[in-house]
Amino acid sequence: MSDKPKIFLTRELPPQTMELLQNQSVLTMNQEDRYLTKAEIMEGIRGVDGLLCLLTDSIDDEILAANPALKVVANFAVGFNNIDIEAATARNIAVTNTPGVLTETTADMAFALLLDVARRVAEGDRFVRTRAWEGWGPLQFLGADVSHATLGLIGLGRIGKSMIPRAQGFSMNVLYWNRTRLTPDEEASLRVTYCELDELLQQSDFVSLHVAQNAETRHLLGAREFSLMKPEALLVNTARGPIVDEKAMVTALESGQIAGAGLDVYEQEPLLEPELYEMDNVVVAPHLGSGTIGTRTKMGNMAAENCLAACRGQRPPNLVNPQVYD
Ligand code: GLV
Repeated sequence: MSDKPKIFLTRELPPQTMELLQNQSVLTMNQEDRYLTKAEIMEGIRGVDGLLCLLTDSIDDEILAANPALKVVANFAVGFNNIDIEAATARNIAVTNTPGVLTETTADMAFALLLDVARRVAEGDRFVRTRAWEGWGPLQFLGADVSHATLGLIGLGRIGKSMIPRAQGFSMNVLYWNRTRLTPDEEASLRVTYCELDELLQQSDFVSLHVAQNAETRHLLGAREFSLMKPEALLVNTARGPIVDEKAMVTALESGQIAGAGLDVYEQEPLLEPELYEMDNVVVAPHLGSGTIGTRTKMGNMAAENCLAACRGQRPPNLVNPQVYD
């Protein structure tokens, strides 16, 4: 009998992480490149010590009840809105995430979307590929200037903060709104200005979302908020889809209340509001904010180490519900 912890993994992770898990645990896993059903996850976790899962796996109390001896749910993501934390805590199950390692990579993606939607890169690419381009023209595909524009950051956690030097590298003026305001010294050294949310929406040329998804941030941007934004404003969302009322965003885009959006996340992934598939003023990416080889490997190793530690009875390094160890 092996004394290695038993772990169930819901989908293949990068090679280095797979090697780590194969060496240090008795690993069972989803062998196919697809989401598992709820029933399959419940079946998979029977008899194991730890579950290593993805942001696309919705882990509720019913799943947790399938294995009363489960010690940990290790999420391969920094966000953990897919896990019922209260239920896990009530069952004394540790929940972990992967903070820090994807900060810069996700900020890069937000900035890529910002530049893309401003300068109509994806739209131009489609135009060229359809052989529609007949040569340079002075009024073709005119976009918005990024340099010297005002960027409003909603949320100033790790990823939001990481947007600041990127924006300042493009000589942007940076406003922010956050649950807790920075100290005047921090604001001065970062060269950012605090605004109430409505004021930020009124003043920004670009609005980028960097808050976590929870009950307070669900539909933080809806019809009222879009009506406050400038008609030339562009929205960037690399955080979570449900922070934006997607139907209200479509209406705002259709009516010209805002000019465009660069999106990586959606309310009902992988489905988008149908109009979004057709809109040329919207850039749509398939939730790949943390998607680089280096970052996904770091996330995988971090999730694996969290899972292994909790399975061995140690406090995992990136614990979301510390009450379990109190
Ligand atoms: C990705 O969306 C994450 O939360 O890590």
